Amino acid sequence: MSTPPHFGRSLLPLWALDPAITYLNHGTVGATPLVVLAAQAALRDEIERQPARFLLRELTPIGRPDEHPDRALPGGPRQRLRAAAMAVAPWLSAQGDDLVFVDNATAGANAVLASFDLRPGDEVLVTNRTYGAVTRAAAHHAARAGAQIVTAHLPFPVCGEAELVGAVQAALTPRTRLAVLDHVSPETALVMPLAAMAAACRARGVAVLADGAHAPGALPVDIPSLGVDYYTANLHKWAFSPRSAGILWAAPERRAGLHPPVISWGAGGGWLAEFDWVGTRDPTPFLCAPAGFQFIDEALGGRDALWAHNHALAWRTAERLTTHWGLPWTTPRAMVASMVTLPLPPALGRGFDAAMALKSWLLAQAQIEAQILAIDERLYWRFSAQAYNDDADVERFTQALADFPGAG
Ligand SMILES: Cc1ncc(COP(=O)(O)O)c(C=O)c1O
Repeated sequence: MSTPPHFGRSLLPLWALDPAITYLNHGTVGATPLVVLAAQAALRDEIERQPARFLLRELTPIGRPDEHPDRALPGGPRQRLRAAAMAVAPWLSAQGDDLVFVDNATAGANAVLASFDLRPGDEVLVTNRTYGAVTRAAAHHAARAGAQIVTAHLPFPVCGEAELVGAVQAALTPRTRLAVLDHVSPETALVMPLAAMAAACRARGVAVLADGAHAPGALPVDIPSLGVDYYTANLHKWAFSPRSAGILWAAPERRAGLHPPVISWGAGGGWLAEFDWVGTRDPTPFLCAPAGFQFIDEALGGRDALWAHNHALAWRTAERLTTHWGLPWTTPRAMVASMVTLPLPPALGRGFDAAMALKSWLLAQAQIEAQILAIDERLYWRFSAQAYNDDADVERFTQALADFPGAG
């Protein structure tokens, strides 16, 4: 795969990112392109010209019923939220009305966990790699129902997908009702064998909530093909929508009884009615989500070019650095998309405090924003390879590490 020459630092002016900072952590909270921010600003101006019309009559016909004398009129500019969902859906191989917007992946996960019919003694499967906030939400909602969470221990480093599927299978019990599984693992950055894991759960009658926080915009996503019951994701990380925008997809048979974390006018009105209006809020991140995907198509030469650049940069970085440092590198290439987590030299330290110290030092001394993690006490770097990154960024990072006190 060759890297189109236009990717790299020359693209940085397309973002508001400070050029003095080497930004290697796109995945953490995303970074919104200027053109998308401009679209959002224009939309906000439009809202402010007549806020009641936009928010209560044009955004969705679901909102406050007292504000909808014209809700029965066919056509008309009343469905802007649904139009945005329709425009986002093809990127996820979904239908527009199969998706609802949620504030973020945490909200999507909470909607499912709070709505799922858990009973005393039931088990919710999470993994040792589940995002911490989602694990906490699972524990909270399980405890309220008298249920409990059970943790599947996924190995890392990995040599292949089978060991991950096997770890999930081994943690399923006759009491497991729901499994929370990542599409892209938040710390290890591995593209998980989600379809195979979901199939193993389905075979045991266990429903699956997939957490795709890092997936849309970072790799091809075909939600219906995964065989999951629920799929939540962020669009403000890799899909370039303004913060914050998430989606929740649910299989048709799972939508009855699925409620948003905030109950509002649509209560009892079904999937779209319940999620499309959760009180007055800023809808512009959702409405600008299509602009984020459009940015990929128009400014970055399309998804294939972007993903080829991101993947190639991530992969060669991991191969080169682990070779340079003489560290083992076993991750299968198929499990890496736009992000990669690679081991750091043991001389840099061990444990959470060492990871934080290195992260802070890189920022303070080298103006590098990098995600340094302690996984099972060992230090790793999770590198988000984005359109504006190139080999020179990696070189700056490598050079800075060599200067870290104690690195020798
Ligand atoms: C796998 C995973 N799930 C959920 C989240 C939470 O995202 P948010 O804070 O936008 O809800 C993250 C954030 O990085 C994540 O990596």
